[in-house]
This record gives sequence, structure tokens and C-alpha cells, in this order.
Amino acid sequence: MGAMKQDLVYEILNELPAGVMLADDSGGIIFANNAAIEYLGIGREGLKEINIDHLLQHGTRKKEIMLRTKGNERVTVNLSKKVLSNGWTVIILNDITEVHQLQQELLKMDKLATVGELTSGIAHEIRNPLAGIKTTAQALSEEIPAQDHRSVYISKIIMEIDRLNKLLLNFFDFAKPKALYIRPFDVKRVIENTIYMIKDTAKANRVQIMEFYPTNTISINADPDMIQQVLMNIFINAVQSMSAGGRMEVHLVEKDSHILIEVSDTGKGIPENIRSRIFDPFFTTKPKGIGLGLSISYRIIKMHSGSITFTSSDAGTKFTVNLSKDIKG
Ligand SMILES: Nc1ncnc2c1ncn2[C@@H]1O[C@H](COP(=O)(O)OP(=O)(O)OP(=O)(O)O)[C@@H](O)[C@H]1O
Ligand SMILES: [Mg+2]
Repeated sequence: MGAMKQDLVYEILNELPAGVMLADDSGGIIFANNAAIEYLGIGREGLKEINIDHLLQHGTRKKEIMLRTKGNERVTVNLSKKVLSNGWTVIILNDITEVHQLQQELLKMDKLATVGELTSGIAHEIRNPLAGIKTTAQALSEEIPAQDHRSVYISKIIMEIDRLNKLLLNFFDFAKPKALYIRPFDVKRVIENTIYMIKDTAKANRVQIMEFYPTNTISINADPDMIQQVLMNIFINAVQSMSAGGRMEVHLVEKDSHILIEVSDTGKGIPENIRSRIFDPFFTTKPKGIGLGLSISYRIIKMHSGSITFTSSDAGTKFTVNLSKDIKG
């Protein structure tokens, strides 16, 4: 190839939107066009460091690899290779980031639909026996005099059944959200009720709970069941983050026409690289998690025109729910 011609070939290769690389038989890169360098997120000088066999191993079976460009953009590229007759390898990198994102979105929607179907079936199957258990518990409570200390256990059973019923309904509602039922209620009462429900779990996890309320009663206009559900999700997450025990603090703060409910834990914190995803449906880092807790909470708070935010470090996490005192449904 004459000098002119070779320059021209380089120029053409560098203009291509696809990444093109050439590796010798030991896997060392001897040529990479601009697009390839961009996808790999390295400078020309970094090319020496890259071994093509290593890169190929990083690919999934479909030969898709996630890379981070120098501009710190996340790209998904499809990698194909062809071994030439002299033992060298040509590698082509195609940017399929958008296709990949679309696929992920579809997958999410698909999962949502499946969860919707599954839960409607399961909810139905669970709620019937649950109704039976509740009736039996109520019959039992009528037999036990109110001053008997065991009546507390029965009311606890009934309360938990009601909660399960609600949980099932809410889970089912996830695909088809329910309308708000706005009414005035005492926020402190709802916080206390929710804490009561998780206090055994907290105790088992050696988590101490501290509550801070203003001296005056704060009544707001919102959907108390939904707010309770949000608090439940935040409390449970806090307790779960403290596998070796710790302290959860709940502060109720009045601020002009708003209230703040702040929940802090001394748990392991939320790693920086997942912070943007914790509100996504089905995002979970827990072996038995579903990843719906925060996404449902987020939606509920949005429905109330409020906000839910957090700050986190390796010393713990603080979630803040900000609600207007008077929400017009
Ligand atoms: N207080 C917290 N401390 C540390 N990580 C948290 C905290 N709250 C949420 N997270 C992170 O956010 C992820 C998503 O939380 P989310 O409540 O939506 O789902 P989950 O708890 O994993 O599952 P589910 O709530 O459906 O049982 C968690 O898996 C966890 O990684
Ligand atoms: Mg959760």
C-alpha cells in the first residue's frame, strides 16, 4: 500500500462510527480507530495496556460489553471479531447503547405486567384464608375478657392481618395505582403506629428506635394509609441496613405549610454508584428483596405533590419526606 493510500484508509477508518481494532496474534492492539478509542475510554497511550483476550472475556455470551468512555458516558457495545489468515484479529465494536436501553425498558414493563398478573392471582388466594383467620381471631377475642393480657395478642393478630390485606392490595395496585383518600389525621399517631409494627423486627436486629416530635399536635390532610406505607418501607430499609444493630431516629418537623419526616439510620449507607437507581422499580441489592419499596413510596409521595430525598455516607443514611400540610386530592 502506498503512503497516500494508507493515509486515506486511516482517515476512512477514523471517520467510521463503529470501533475498529486490529490485534496481533498475542492479543496486543496494533491499531484502533477513533471510535474504538472513544468506546474504550482510554487515550492512544492506553492502548498498550489493553489485551484483546481480556476484553473478549469481559463480554457476555452475546458479546455485549459495558464500557465507560473518557467523557464518563456509559456505553454498551456489541463486539464481533474475525481472525485473519495471518493470525491477527479484527475487532468491530458497535454502539448499541440505545437498543440496550430500550431492551431494559421493555424488560421492566414486562416484569411489571408479570408482577401485576402474579399478584392478582396470589392476592386472591391469600386473602380468602386470611379472612378466615381474621374471623377466627375475632371470635377468640370475644371469648377472652378485655382485661386479660392475652387480648393484646389477639388484637395484634388482627392488626397484622389487616396490614397483610392492605399490603396485598397495595402490591396489586402497583400496576394499577389507587386513588388517594385524603382526610385529616394526626401525623404523630401514624408514625407511632408504623413504629409499633416494626418494633419486633427492630429489636431482633438490635436496632434502637428514637422518636422526636414537636410538642403540639400536627394534623395534616393526606392519605394516612399511603403515608404509613411509605414510612413502613423507609423504616424497614433502615432496619435492614443495620445488620449488626444500630440506631434509627425519626424526627417530625413542622416547617411553615409543610412537614418533614426525617428517618436516619446508622447503617452501611448507600454506595454512590447505586444512588441514582434506588427508586427504580425492581432495583434491589438484597437477596430476598423485590425492589418495590422505594419505587412505590416515591410514587405515593409524588401523588401527594411532596418529595422524598436522601443523603448517605458509610456512616448511615437519612431519608426525608416533605409533605404539604394540606393536599388537595
Ligand atoms: N436505609 C438504607 N440504607 C442502605 N441502603 C438502602 C436504604 N434504603 C434503601 N437502600 C437501598 O435501596 C435499594 C432499594 O430499596 P427498596 O426498598 O426499593 O427495595 P428493597 O428493600 O431492596 O426490596 P423491597 O423493599 O421490595 O423488599 C435497597 O436494595 C438498598 O440497596
Ligand atoms: Mg425495601
